[in-house]
Amino acid sequence: EGDNLQEICAYLLEVANEAGAIILAAHPTSRTTLTKKNTTDIVTETDKDVESFIRQRVAKRYPACAFVGEETYTAEMALTDAPTIIVDPIDGTSNFIHGFPEVCVSIGLIIEKCPVVGVVYNPFREERWYATKSHGAFTVRHGGQVQKLPLVSTPLQGLRSACIGIEWGSDREGPNFELNLKVFTTLARTVATGGNFVNSLRCTGSAAITICRVAAGQQDVFWECGCWAWDVAAAWCVLTEAGGIMVDGHPGDWDPSINNRRYLAVRPASEGQRELVEEFWSI
Ligand code: IPD
Repeated sequence: EGDNLQEICAYLLEVANEAGAIILAAHPTSRTTLTKKNTTDIVTETDKDVESFIRQRVAKRYPACAFVGEETYTAEMALTDAPTIIVDPIDGTSNFIHGFPEVCVSIGLIIEKCPVVGVVYNPFREERWYATKSHGAFTVRHGGQVQKLPLVSTPLQGLRSACIGIEWGSDREGPNFELNLKVFTTLARTVATGGNFVNSLRCTGSAAITICRVAAGQQDVFWECGCWAWDVAAAWCVLTEAGGIMVDGHPGDWDPSINNRRYLAVRPASEGQRELVEEFWSI
């Protein structure tokens, strides 16, 4: 297209700002609320409006770019190696409906199925995170200064000191749900028995925001089994550019239709990342 990745990132930040304004102006409780597969899998008219807005803005500037969005995805669609914009118009839809301000627009660009640009914007808290492959990751909060990520990168000291962000996802049956249940139960038991195994658990309802907080170093680990490519594409770029790692995802064979949608992210750290992953899987 002639644009380099940083120009694309700048454009996607503009689009995310405009999408954020649509979200702020919406009143989700007074509009139709649809459910997809169960009461936890919710879509509002605003999700659809925002996705359609982003799609049009992207098509105008990058007409040759493929597009995958949460609200228009169908099981027949497959990710290809072509440049693809991958969008969650509202990550944290349940929060949005409740007025809980952990809600974001997530726009990623993937090339050969690897995230190369990521923009995540929470309009309620005026907080944004963005990254471009090989050019680092950044955050801007409340109209303040641009800060390079990570904000915290002290050595990791194992699960005993770890603050873990976990998400339930929207499945309530099947192998993803069963694995989530096992991990949650195990982690929760360790907290309940005196924090002897993990320091703390957090569950904010937005996978993208949590992964960005891990990228910033404000949380140590993110775990979810069952989220989709659009939940993680943009934040993945932010995470890896900040120096964090994503394991158990599917870079390289990353198709939203695959069933094994497991994501374990560890924050940037001068030491202890791989050890933490091993410890996590030994629980
Ligand atoms: C959901 C959120 C949630 C995660 C779910 C996602 P949505 O996205 O990211 O944290 O647990 O798996 O589907 O539905 O609000 O866009």
